[in-house]
Amino acid sequence: MSATRQDEQAVLNKDYSKSDYYILASDFQGTVRLALQQYIWREALGFNIHPSIPPLEPTASIADIACGTTLWLVEVGRQLGPPSDLHAFDVNLQQAPPKEWLPENLTLHKWNFFEDVPKEFKGKFDLVHVRLITVAIKDNNPVPVIKNLFKLLRPGGHLQWDEVDVYKSFVVKAYAELEVPAMDAWCAWMAGTKEGQGNPENEWRRHLTGMLTENGFQTAQRHDEGDRFLEHKHLMRYNSDPLLMLSEQYARRVYSTGNEQGTKLLKTVEAAAKDAENGSAMIMPPIIWVAQKPL
Ligand SMILES: C[S@@+](CC[C@H](N)C(=O)[O-])C[C@H]1O[C@@H](n2cnc3c(N)ncnc32)[C@H](O)[C@@H]1O
Repeated sequence: MSATRQDEQAVLNKDYSKSDYYILASDFQGTVRLALQQYIWREALGFNIHPSIPPLEPTASIADIACGTTLWLVEVGRQLGPPSDLHAFDVNLQQAPPKEWLPENLTLHKWNFFEDVPKEFKGKFDLVHVRLITVAIKDNNPVPVIKNLFKLLRPGGHLQWDEVDVYKSFVVKAYAELEVPAMDAWCAWMAGTKEGQGNPENEWRRHLTGMLTENGFQTAQRHDEGDRFLEHKHLMRYNSDPLLMLSEQYARRVYSTGNEQGTKLLKTVEAAAKDAENGSAMIMPPIIWVAQKPL
């Protein structure tokens, strides 16, 4: 981590030790960003459930952990039909619709994934899905979460875990001669490589396949899906702009603490937005792990 990034994080992380600590905004802008991202990913990737997972019975039990808007699970439920048994969990259900607007077979639960798995859910699910929880993982150690995800599955059930490979973020330009220095700078900042350094707080993603195996899963496999966006160029702008939105929110929070980095970040994001209008986008490649709990 660069000294600058450490400095920004130190100010924002004062509640880091709390087990329900979460840095991103759960307000209406966050909801819009996540909802758009769900539709863009589904369109670009071509699936909600990774194709390496065998087809589920229409009566399958599915858990979406850290569900945010619940949209992934709503879409999966629509695919499977009403006999499916759907459970959406989050430490904060602020971004989910009221239960009255959700399908009858989908139940919302407030649950912190660092806490014990409730008895009634142990060994229950055919599929457990979790997506984009990097910012909630503490001390570069996903093992407590892996252990809880394992407990939720029935023997033979599958885990699907979706993240993004920030290290491999890259800029795409509509035409080769286009100069987009701010977009390049923003991408380097997001990837944590501005000073040529990695981003050690997220190192665990490089080792997740092995960690899943060490914690009881079998056939753990990592699928890199970044090229899908290159196959869907018309979607690249809508995939990149929500990331700008996220960076702007983050920059505003840094700014609000009085840290001078906030001003710098806001300027970079503003200039990168201009570069986007001129025909560029950033891709943060999706990575999907699929693993099975042994029978
Ligand atoms: C980036 S959002 C992703 C939401 C959803 N998975 C999606 O892809 O749209 C991360 C989610 O993790 C939830 N979260 C953060 N820490 C958590 C914890 N300790 N236990 C359960 N959920 C948590 C947040 O409330 C938020 O809804």
